[in-house]
Amino acid sequence: MSHKKITIAIDGFSSTGKSTVAKQLAKHLGYVYIDSGAMYRAVTYFAMSNGLIDENNFNVEELISKLDNVSVSFKFNKDLGFAEVYLNGINVEKEIRTLEVSNYVSKVSAIPQVRQQLVRQQHKMGEEKGIVMDGRDIGTVVFPDAELKLFMTASAETRALRRYNELKAKGENVTYQDVLQNVQERDYLDSTREDSPLYKANDAIEIDNSNMSLDEQFKTILDLVNAVLKR
Ligand code: DC
Repeated sequence: MSHKKITIAIDGFSSTGKSTVAKQLAKHLGYVYIDSGAMYRAVTYFAMSNGLIDENNFNVEELISKLDNVSVSFKFNKDLGFAEVYLNGINVEKEIRTLEVSNYVSKVSAIPQVRQQLVRQQHKMGEEKGIVMDGRDIGTVVFPDAELKLFMTASAETRALRRYNELKAKGENVTYQDVLQNVQERDYLDSTREDSPLYKANDAIEIDNSNMSLDEQFKTILDLVNAVLKR
């Protein structure tokens, strides 16, 4: 295997399977995997836990003033085979995956001060390359020089069904309609916000996995990685 270490940026709408393939790649290559969405989710969970955001209001100013007290980090969990997210030293991996957090996260991630703070941390994490990071702005803003950029897509219905099945399996009481609505709202908010909206970088390779098995998807992407490593 090549000793060259590269940066792999994976962007796309929610539930396009970014994290699944990112984890597979990191494991296969011995790279670090960073789920940047988990970082935005952790800040959102912080805002919820501190009463700064709910159905009726969102105290943006106070969240910004408290950002210095928000520390998001990752710790590798050997049993799970990937790094879990910690908020101020506490494991919040489960807490950040609820539909409630998903409903507020687009608002929190639209705040420029939140993005600046998290992007600074993401740059540090990627300094030594050998990293797979997924998100919305990784190939466009965070690592514009990444050697491999992927842009994942799948229909909103396919994605909502995936997320619905995941949430159900975790025992969350949700309907498919609620999940579809959340997916569509986030697609809209994530791609129309002013700061770092989601779009495909010119040099990103688009992967539509609506009709691909996980195996097919992994093989397709691994071929792309190997082509870059051979260059
Ligand atoms: O990947 P995810 O669904 O867990 O991401 C949650 C939200 O975080 C997503 O709706 C938008 C935001 N996000 C972002 O703005 N920039 C990123 N790099 C990653 C996620």
